[in-house]
Amino acid sequence: MAKPVAASFLTQANALFKKNLTYQKRNIWSNVRLIVIPLYLCVVLVCIQALFDTLVNNSADNQCGCRCIDDKNGDGKCEIRSCGLQFSSQNQAVFCAFPNPPPLLPLLHIPRPETRSVDPARRDSCKRTGSCPVTILVTGNNQSLGATLSENLLSTSFTVNSSDLFLRNLAYTVLGTTSATDYTNYRDPGIYSDLPIFSIQPQCTPATTLPSFSFQQPPLEFQKEVRCVQGLSLWRNNSIEVNDEIFKNYLKGNHEEIVNEVAAAYDLLDTDRSNFNVTIWYYTTYKGDLQDWRVKYVRVPRSVNLVSNAYLQFLKGSGTKMLFDFVKEMPKQETRLRMDMASLVGPIFFSWVILLLFPVILNSLVYEKQQRLRIIMKMHGLGDASYWMISYAYFLAISTLYIVCLMIFGSAIGLKFFRFNDYSIQFIFYFLYINLQISIAFLVSSAFSKAVTASVAAYIYVFGSGLLGAFLFQFLVEGLSFPRRWLFVLELYPGFSLYRGLYEFSQYAFQRNLNGRDGMKWKHFRGSAMDEIFSIIIIEGFLALIVTYYMNRVSSTAKDPIVFLENTFKKSLSPQKFSLKKQGSSVSVEMEKLDVIQEREKVEQLMLEPSTSHDIVCDNLKKVYPGRDGNPPKLAISGLSLAVPSGECFGMLGPNGAGKTSFINMMTGLVKPTSGSAFVRGLDICKDMDRVYTSMGVCPQHDLLWETLTGREHLFFYGRLKNLKGPDLNQAVEESLKSVNLFHGGVADTPAGKYSGGMKRRLSVAISLMGSPKVVYMDEPSTGLDPASRRSLWTAIKSAKQHTAIILTTHSMEEAEFLCDRLGIFVDGSLQCIGNPKELKGRYGGSCVLTMTTSTEHEKDVELLVQDVSPNAKKIYQIAGTQKFELPKEEVRISEVFQAVEKAKSNFKVFAWGIADTTLEDVFIKVAKTGQAF
Ligand SMILES: *[C@@H]1O[C@H](CO)[C@@H](O)[C@H](O)[C@H]1NC(C)=O
Ligand SMILES: *[C@@H]1O[C@H](CO)[C@@H](O)[C@H](O)[C@H]1NC(C)=O
Ligand SMILES: *[C@@H]1O[C@H](CO)[C@@H](O)[C@H](O)[C@H]1NC(C)=O
Ligand SMILES: *[C@@H]1O[C@H](CO)[C@@H](O)[C@H](O)[C@H]1NC(C)=O
Repeated sequence: MAKPVAASFLTQANALFKKNLTYQKRNIWSNVRLIVIPLYLCVVLVCIQALFDTLVNNSADNQCGCRCIDDKNGDGKCEIRSCGLQFSSQNQAVFCAFPNPPPLLPLLHIPRPETRSVDPARRDSCKRTGSCPVTILVTGNNQSLGATLSENLLSTSFTVNSSDLFLRNLAYTVLGTTSATDYTNYRDPGIYSDLPIFSIQPQCTPATTLPSFSFQQPPLEFQKEVRCVQGLSLWRNNSIEVNDEIFKNYLKGNHEEIVNEVAAAYDLLDTDRSNFNVTIWYYTTYKGDLQDWRVKYVRVPRSVNLVSNAYLQFLKGSGTKMLFDFVKEMPKQETRLRMDMASLVGPIFFSWVILLLFPVILNSLVYEKQQRLRIIMKMHGLGDASYWMISYAYFLAISTLYIVCLMIFGSAIGLKFFRFNDYSIQFIFYFLYINLQISIAFLVSSAFSKAVTASVAAYIYVFGSGLLGAFLFQFLVEGLSFPRRWLFVLELYPGFSLYRGLYEFSQYAFQRNLNGRDGMKWKHFRGSAMDEIFSIIIIEGFLALIVTYYMNRVSSTAKDPIVFLENTFKKSLSPQKFSLKKQGSSVSVEMEKLDVIQEREKVEQLMLEPSTSHDIVCDNLKKVYPGRDGNPPKLAISGLSLAVPSGECFGMLGPNGAGKTSFINMMTGLVKPTSGSAFVRGLDICKDMDRVYTSMGVCPQHDLLWETLTGREHLFFYGRLKNLKGPDLNQAVEESLKSVNLFHGGVADTPAGKYSGGMKRRLSVAISLMGSPKVVYMDEPSTGLDPASRRSLWTAIKSAKQHTAIILTTHSMEEAEFLCDRLGIFVDGSLQCIGNPKELKGRYGGSCVLTMTTSTEHEKDVELLVQDVSPNAKKIYQIAGTQKFELPKEEVRISEVFQAVEKAKSNFKVFAWGIADTTLEDVFIKVAKTGQAF
């Protein structure tokens, strides 16, 4: 037997690819919408940035203050403007140019009076007068040394010498402020604010009033009040005590009583004459806020100078002084605020943009599953491997195109998010992520059976991930207290790993814009969050693919893993029950149906000595659906034996629910037989189904078509799958279209979604006959067709029959008679009879049927009349005066009947009457009845 030539992987790939391409072309508008969304979001971002630039970055508050100094014409239009510190508010000042920054007093940051740490005995009185002392703690290994140093710490006095360069003068005294610091130190708020400066002295007499001094810093001039505050330096036995004192009340509510803050603390460690080793605790009110990406200054220099000075005096005597004149910032040019808002909000936008592909892919996969297009493609020879690989490659190509568009457009429109980071990192990140996304879509698609549900779930995932990322995950990333390993766990969720990557891009872009640092480059990659994210994405992508592959295997070997298990379990539990049943039924079958037994013998013969004459051989096929929810197991097919040679059309008749569709499903590999076997062209359907598919055509009961593809495109696709190429393919498609009457009037180029039911039916038949398969199954091919179309369809099937074995189920006796060489009537899962239509009619139809309609009162007369003509007649039907009788053929002559009726007409009124030979329909009804009764 010639082995069927399977279409090569490449041919299948080509077929599927071309189909998908056409499908996408049809869907061009939804594709355009898909591409437009990222472009639209990019434009929105640019607009947000423009708005932000106008309102914030370029607002007067965020640049150095200016003033009009010359309005010559007096027309309100300024000719000369002057900008600088002198025209600026505190906020504006930081943006001014400081070519020569002013020297600033080195101030010590001290707690506000009400929060200072004081001896509880003194607290009340000092609070009232506002004279609570500033505490400095000292500890170390050598207490006597510590005592000396702490005396030296605050041994200065405050003097004002107006003729002196005042800064030099001020350097002798320890000055402090309660003012917090700013982000830059060009204008220290300790000086340029209304708060007083404190001179910290060992003793303040209540009468001590200090003169205010004028503070001249061209171009600014300040009058500053100086107050005296007592400084206490206290010894503590060790650093544990110091820590205790500093931190025990830290952040314990707002209650002033319990906040004991110290201005500074020193641990002198092992300091001695030859070795100066000190740890310094400094005081600050800056907490390093979460949302603050800038760092504020802390006032440490003065406390370092204090202890150094004290040590120097200890070594060299009290005359020695190390004066700390001033601190000074680096010169700077005028700056602008450059906040890239678009980068900051980028992650949520772009995570939506990229995740948006997910519903699209998932929907497409689930749609093919839901419409059972996947299975029908498989039945026409499309292998699993080709399907998955082509789909993967196809989605990857689309996604890649999408992100490339996004990157190009984003850069072109000027988004720094894209421009400031290395393009190769960005591309690889997106590329890896879309791979992961496709793998996950494959994995998840097996969980959904409805495209709509899948889409809804996917969109919830898209928007949920973006929002959770921005409003939960980002806080956790920025919050330093969140454990890093839990962050890692969160990043295992694909939505968050994407968000994290985008977040890193946005931070690098933002910082580069603000501070001129580097954008993300490969040199930042190792050991960064990006490194981690890349690994997560790659590993998860592979895992998802492996799990998908495994699940696909499981589902293709057993439709439902649970059913599969149940079956195995039951089989092993109660084998005798089934075998008993089998014996019982086969015995009773043998009693009556000789034709069925002959067929069984023929099959047994064929099984013993295989020959090529019969394309389809079913040997004792059985299907039992396991009982569920307390229902007994349902026997769908009980021991069907059948052999169909090439060139024969076998018709399967039977009432609804007789098991015809179950049989077709079994033969097409949708369900596995419970026992028995079947061979198609010598290939076992349980083992070699994939090869069987290459020479098989199916026309399922429900049309499985792509709504947007035209009839012609369907046929091209299936033709390619069947290994047709070039002119052969074109010719086959033309012929096929003509044969099912879809060729004219542009029908072939109309999307199948617009077809009427009959047209879809015809297309389905054309598909099943495409590429001259050796075996074709048709499940009620002509339902819903008008008589003319049905005729042409029949002709098409009949001409295809010559070199094909066809199994066809139908409810139309006319069709069965016209098309089928043999018929089998199928009742309750088993064949009741088998033979060609003439034989069957002869065998079951040894009678003719007399129908007569009269008024009801004459029913009795009619009965008598019939009795007279044929004593063995049987009444088979009676309703409202219409009666049907079956008259054995050997008893009646038609002429006698006519005479009898003519006579009757003179006696009573006969509305209508007729006599007919048995039709196939009568045979069917008879067989179905006896089968069911039995
Ligand atoms: C402690 O310091 C003093 C000097 O102030 C020194 O004389 C003494 O030896 C030191 N004690 C120890 C145990 O180092
Ligand atoms: C003021 O400063 C001048 C110059 O440094 C100095 O001669 C004078 O003695 C100082 N006066 C006081 C009261 O310290
Ligand atoms: C510190 O040490 C001294 C002597 O070693 C001792 O008298 C004092 O109680 C200690 N202080 C504390 C708070 O432990
Ligand atoms: C300073 O003190 C610390 C703690 O006692 C010690 O580990 C370190 O070696 C010392 N440094 C010097 C230079 O002595």
